Amino acid sequence: MRQFAFYCTKTLRKTFNPVRKKDNFLVFGSPKIENNEIQEVVDTLKSTWLGTGPKVNLFEKEFNQYKDGEYYPVAVSSCTAALHLSLVASGVTRGDEFITTPLTFCSTLNAIIHAGGVPVLADIDPVTYNIDPAEIEKKVNEKTKAIVPVHLNGRCCEMEKIKMIAENHNLKIIEDCAHAIESEHQGKKAGTFGDFSCFSFYATKNLTTAEGGMILAKSEEDAKRLKTLALHGMSNDAWKRYSDEGYKHYLVKECGFKYNMTDLQAAIGIHQLRRIEENWERRKEIWDFYRNSFSSFPVRTPAEVPNGDKHGYHIFNILVDDKVCGINRDQFLNEMTRHNIGVGVHYLSIPEHPFYQNHLDWNADDYPLAKTVGRQTVSLPLSAKLSDKDIEDVIKAVSQILA
Ligand SMILES: Cc1ncc(COP(=O)(O)O)c(C=O)c1O
Repeated sequence: MRQFAFYCTKTLRKTFNPVRKKDNFLVFGSPKIENNEIQEVVDTLKSTWLGTGPKVNLFEKEFNQYKDGEYYPVAVSSCTAALHLSLVASGVTRGDEFITTPLTFCSTLNAIIHAGGVPVLADIDPVTYNIDPAEIEKKVNEKTKAIVPVHLNGRCCEMEKIKMIAENHNLKIIEDCAHAIESEHQGKKAGTFGDFSCFSFYATKNLTTAEGGMILAKSEEDAKRLKTLALHGMSNDAWKRYSDEGYKHYLVKECGFKYNMTDLQAAIGIHQLRRIEENWERRKEIWDFYRNSFSSFPVRTPAEVPNGDKHGYHIFNILVDDKVCGINRDQFLNEMTRHNIGVGVHYLSIPEHPFYQNHLDWNADDYPLAKTVGRQTVSLPLSAKLSDKDIEDVIKAVSQILA
């Protein structure tokens, strides 16, 4: 691959050849699904139970072991559901403030609003793109209930500083680990710093169950409540109700939600989890190769991973600054599509969206660092499924567009 990068920069910039054939579009975030997942799904379909059952239990157990077994796992239907439940379980009362980042997916914010909280934004660190602890400190007041850090792209936030702020002001921490299944900060796994942590198994994530999520709760009591809340607030879960122990009456203990994971989803997750490190190794290889290949290009690549940290390598982004590249981000996205390469944006900053402008009176200019990154960022394909040829095609396309 190295020789190819040299070839790209020296030769291909001069000529334009379509990189990929029209019928061969490289889908962004396409997951690597193997036979074990397929067999397990078929096995589940042929079994007597599709809902929340033994496979969900096994997936929870193995996920928790992967995370060093310090917390209590609760599998749910999405990370959005995980965030919503965790916020409710944190004991939010109307008007409580939750400090989070402006550079995240909308569901981090929406979950806070749905739980009855008030989101408060603290701008990002321009190097890591994660929430800046110094900005958090400025936003803390007597109404602050919790900090909701997001380990963006798979890079951990500065958790020792965030923990210190939380301890000093008696705040909870709810980690958004949607991008950070494999990530570690100073030897400690992402999702084991806060009171709750929320993972996503959406179709494009490092581990997928098509749709799905997991909460790790620090306290067993919280985990029990989360399980109840995830299934309408009922005292016994549906699996127990229909098990061979005979019919079990349930009692509704509180007004819950319908956020449980099914055995069909867990069937995929169990095998995805068993290959998590193998897939991580492949994405690291691609990440390192992209970083080296783009080092002479007029784009910014992700910052170096700090010693002692493990990056989740979920999203590889470049910043396309029109003043430097002669092309703006949206033109670049269109060009990549024309080259048949799928790309993403993670993310336009939250205050750019009309809902938050209209309902919270937010202005993107008040969070200038997130605004700039959000307007320049482009996510390139990064999946364990990519072949060497796919990666070469991505580099060739970027090279031709920027030539
Ligand atoms: C940072 C972040 N938080 C939360 C979510 C929500 O995840 P899910 O789609 O599983 O609800 C996503 C999804 O992309 C995300 O990127």
